[in-house]
Amino acid sequence: MRLVRDVRVRAPGKINLSLTAGPPREDGYHPLETVFQAVSLYEEVLARPTGGEIAVETRGRGADRVPDDETNLAVRAAHLLRERTGVDGGVHLTITKQVPVAGGMAGGSADAAAALVACDDLWETGLSRAALSELGAELGADVPFALAGMSALGTDRGDVLTPVMSRGTYHWVLAVQDWGLSTPEVFAELDALRGDVAVAETQAIPRREGSAAGDVVAALLSADPLVLARALHNELEEAAIGLRPELADVLAAADRAGALAAVLSGSGPTVAALALDAPHAASVAGVMRGAEAAADVLVVTGPMPGARAVTAVG
Ligand code: C5P
Repeated sequence: MRLVRDVRVRAPGKINLSLTAGPPREDGYHPLETVFQAVSLYEEVLARPTGGEIAVETRGRGADRVPDDETNLAVRAAHLLRERTGVDGGVHLTITKQVPVAGGMAGGSADAAAALVACDDLWETGLSRAALSELGAELGADVPFALAGMSALGTDRGDVLTPVMSRGTYHWVLAVQDWGLSTPEVFAELDALRGDVAVAETQAIPRREGSAAGDVVAALLSADPLVLARALHNELEEAAIGLRPELADVLAAADRAGALAAVLSGSGPTVAALALDAPHAASVAGVMRGAEAAADVLVVTGPMPGARAVTAVG
């Protein structure tokens, strides 16, 4: 008989170094080509066994905007794992948030990824990482990347991953807002800007000259932040600025603060500004804080590993 124990799992937030989106498919999703990088901002999920119920509480950044009912992604993850494996365990999940809510950094997906790993351990369901990733993709397009971490090319809904080799450590300054953007609304704005109102005949991503993802993949091998700075690109930026014009000021503030380049993460509103090294990141962050461009300015590094247990107390 095993001892009752807690499982603590950490999963990283992500930023998108490039993001190209095609017209919407029949299922409403937009085919993506994106390069993700996991950064050192984490969601932590503490899983404790219960008699049978699945419950959640949330602490930390933006916790008051996270539902504590069945719609919580970590709760959905636990239910899905229980349903598919047929175990009868219960769990109490305590989420400690660092990743901004609805910030374009996949915080909710990181909660789901961490909950999957934690419950798989707690209930001894023994699923492979690939099986967890398949379950994760049912919960949200960004969950597989929160499981995988590091740097990866995401295609399809962003959930089909190809690991990308990356050399060196990149230093980022994140301008975080205390309000969120709805991903579907940002994609709808993109469609409106492009006039893509009709469902596309083809699911192909329109080809422009070169490939934004290809440029980022090459840059990550160079280990040179100046090369990566030139490759950063997000096609959702204009749409997000259309919805919240003040985001243009945040990007401009990063530029004025001496960042090598700045880019919107995912559907925003978080802006990621690239620095040369740690001292430069501290300096850019200091200037951006002074400019009051965002509710919070954080310094992080990437790439970082995906969801994994940090302690298991016997
Ligand atoms: O699957 P996920 O919960 O991450 O996505 C939230 C919503 O964002 C989707 O329901 C969809 O409206 C939009 N989305 C999209 N294309 C993607 C990913 C998300 O249109 N590739």
